[in-house]
Amino acid sequence: MTKVSEAPKARLERPVHPAPKEGRRRPFIVEFYGSAVAKKWLMAVTGIMLMGFVFAHMVGNLKLYFGEKSLNQYAEWLKEIGEPILPRTGLLWILRFALLGAVVIHIVSAAQLTRMNRRARPDRYKAPRDYAAATFASRTMRWTGVIVALFVIYHLMDLTWGVGGAEWTSGEVYQNIINSFERWPIAIVYIVANLALGVHLYHGGWSMFQSLGWNNGKFNDWRRMFAIGFATIVVVGNVSMPLMVVTGVVN
Ligand code: HEM
Repeated sequence: MTKVSEAPKARLERPVHPAPKEGRRRPFIVEFYGSAVAKKWLMAVTGIMLMGFVFAHMVGNLKLYFGEKSLNQYAEWLKEIGEPILPRTGLLWILRFALLGAVVIHIVSAAQLTRMNRRARPDRYKAPRDYAAATFASRTMRWTGVIVALFVIYHLMDLTWGVGGAEWTSGEVYQNIINSFERWPIAIVYIVANLALGVHLYHGGWSMFQSLGWNNGKFNDWRRMFAIGFATIVVVGNVSMPLMVVTGVVN
């Protein structure tokens, strides 16, 4: 009985980043990286990069409404940007690696912050969380994050690698989207995942300012408007595409 009740305490006392041996100081950068402030900064900065991608990707994909030629030409242009200084697809690959790096840092920092928060809350086994103070979006960040991550894996299989079950031809971006989205179950997957993305973006767009230390009271209305506006634009743009294709408006 005593052993069971002592277990959480023992885990609590174990530091996230063990202290160096006595008399030795860790370099500032290592010390800073281990802090919650640094993790929050990393989450905010990588979050901004990912928001930039999501927004630009959505705007680019809206060329779907301008027809096959327009969307396919845009997809081709993405491969050519940076030429002739860089080889074809050179800049695209640099951006892909930057995006992948941002995703990894964002997820790792989120996991580390969760661990730090749990350790800093000694009563976590007894007291219920103050759910009244937390919004639905903030409480569901982990789950909306997991849904979006799983969606991105399926989305790559579907439209980039062509192994999502629909007919797929390299370079035929418009037709690939139509072939995929005209299936009801897949359209619903895209719609649900983008709603989850919207909830995630809303809380992320709101809390990133706090993480960066810009949470002046006067600024809060503006922050909320930005978070709502950004999430709404991305959701409306992204949800419209599977919806328009599956209902036959775009074909
Ligand atoms: C309904 C909305 C969406 C449409 C129509 C769409 C369309 C596409 C298409 C056609 C491609 C392949 C492009 C090509 O191979 O030339 C692609 C790639 C990609 N999409 Fe989406 N997408 C949507 C939403 C999203 C969302 C919400 C995310 C992220 C949260 C996302 C992340 C990506 C990523 C990471 C790639 C790979 C980019 C690359 O490697 O070049 N997409 N998307």
